[in-house]
Amino acid sequence: MPENNNSNTEEIRFAYWVPNVSGGLVVSNIEQRTDWGIDYNRRLAQAAEKNGFDYALSQIRFTAGYGAEYQHESVSFSHAILAATEKLKVIAAILPGPWKPALAAKQLATIDQLTNGRVAVNIVSGWFKGEFDAIGEAWPEHDERYVRSEEFIRSLKGIWSQDHFNFDGKYYQFKDYTLKPKPLQQPHIEVFQGGSSRAARDMASRVSDWYLTNGNNLEGIKEQVIDIREKAKANNHQVKIGVNAFVIVRDTEEEAQAVLQEIIDHANPEAVNAFGDATRQAGAASPEGEGNWAKSTFEDLVQYNDGFKTNLIGTPQQVAERIVALKQVGVDLILAGFLHFIEEVEYFGEKVVPLVRELETQKTIELRAG
Ligand SMILES: Cc1cc2nc3c(=O)[nH]c(=O)nc-3n(C[C@H](O)[C@H](O)[C@H](O)COP(=O)(O)O)c2cc1C
Repeated sequence: MPENNNSNTEEIRFAYWVPNVSGGLVVSNIEQRTDWGIDYNRRLAQAAEKNGFDYALSQIRFTAGYGAEYQHESVSFSHAILAATEKLKVIAAILPGPWKPALAAKQLATIDQLTNGRVAVNIVSGWFKGEFDAIGEAWPEHDERYVRSEEFIRSLKGIWSQDHFNFDGKYYQFKDYTLKPKPLQQPHIEVFQGGSSRAARDMASRVSDWYLTNGNNLEGIKEQVIDIREKAKANNHQVKIGVNAFVIVRDTEEEAQAVLQEIIDHANPEAVNAFGDATRQAGAASPEGEGNWAKSTFEDLVQYNDGFKTNLIGTPQQVAERIVALKQVGVDLILAGFLHFIEEVEYFGEKVVPLVRELETQKTIELRAG
């Protein structure tokens, strides 16, 4: 059994990727009964909150990439989903550069007020230089993008939790600024971040509430958890950890593996290779070469956040056991993508979540028994 790095005994949480960009979550021409429009997304969100999902994560893209030809904007789309649900928390992705913290803080505070405190934010640092060039945004190099993101997060938290907020950063400055009304969530709206590099982990261990990382095997995840938890402890900061996974659960393992094979067989090679080239500006370009996609193969890149690597592919029992193994190494949340979202979210809620809860209870009893 892997050692338990999870300091809390809380239930592992589930989030799903909001398909607010076209093409689904895989760069493949396989048939997908997933739609990027709002009607489908409202029904999906309603199904998710009834099936054990606490969070939904939206995506921000300004231009097409890896087959995502159309992309709805993340904050307004998140608000529309919140308006159609009752308890789901929706995480709006925000990219420093196009967004400024003053605007983001105000926009999100209002959404928080309108939705009974259910909005969250994912600060992404940017991986696609072509996109920044296309919209006339400067492209700071890898670690500098994290310097900016960290200032962005410190600004958000300061604005949301203090009156007369002052901040004198390299990228952002605030003088005696008081936001009213503040968000309903106190002390502030939850802040997530995405990325795997050393710079990403360092930022998480200082300022983020949640660290979201690409899919990976158990060992790869465990290394990140240990690194972040050690650094966070030294900084007297608490951060939770979420891992991406492309989930394929079927009644038999053979069926699940066959779906994976079909996705890969129908991969769109041009789009996958173009994406692979673009990612070299991102994780692989970090000084240590440890970021997202640093070691991704062609097949990994067919799911654009390495979601196959987490291996939540199999029967309900196999997948539930692997989820609990991830919890045992310190993971707090599974960020799930699916091929046919609504129907698979329902199947997951019906077949996998109850097994996870049973296994978690068993593990807690074992732990208490020593
Ligand atoms: C779960 C997750 C979600 C992300 N969502 C977005 C997004 O919506 N838009 C975007 O431009 N980048 C997104 N990113 C990319 C990251 O912000 C970051 O640029 C990328 O992971 C490379 O970071 P690294 O070099 O620190 O690993 C996401 C990353 C992760 C792990």
